Amino acid sequence: MQKKLSRVYQLLIVIFALFTVWVYLGATNLADNDMEFSDEALSGKKLFQDYNCSSCHQIYGLGGYLGPDLTDFASKEYKGEDYLNAMLQTGPGQMPIYYFDSGQVRSLYAYLNELYQIDKKMQSMYLK
Ligand code: HEC
Repeated sequence: MQKKLSRVYQLLIVIFALFTVWVYLGATNLADNDMEFSDEALSGKKLFQDYNCSSCHQIYGLGGYLGPDLTDFASKEYKGEDYLNAMLQTGPGQMPIYYFDSGQVRSLYAYLNELYQIDKKMQSMYLK
């Protein structure tokens, strides 16, 4: 009886070890996927940080609450680069006006768009 029990424990330990390896490999695989920002998006991210957009907007729940969460901004087809440009140039509600050139708007949109693409991919991997 005692022997049988220790066999069960051994089996459980092996299963636990295999599970740990499986989880580890799954998590580290993420870095290899195309989940990195392009250079264009990285400059957009820098603008987002330099102009402190997150004082009013959240990304993944981090940031201020005066404006809407922008994590999934690019999920709406009509909210493209032109829409973003219109928002920046008019400063709706309590948002200030930003005089960005078209290159800067493109970078900002690339950042928001890639952010959404990564978010979509993560969701399809983990929230099936
Ligand atoms: C002082 C607060 C504030 C700051 C700073 C700010 N925003 Fe906003 N933003 C808002 C508010 C409030 C709204 C919503 C306005 C409305 O719908 O009436 C908004 C709306 C937006 C929208 C439209 C969202 C949607 O889904 O329709 C975008 C895009 C946006 N902001 C981008 C930015 C970017 C990029 C920056 C930085 C360069 C920025 N905002 C800085 C307050 C801010």
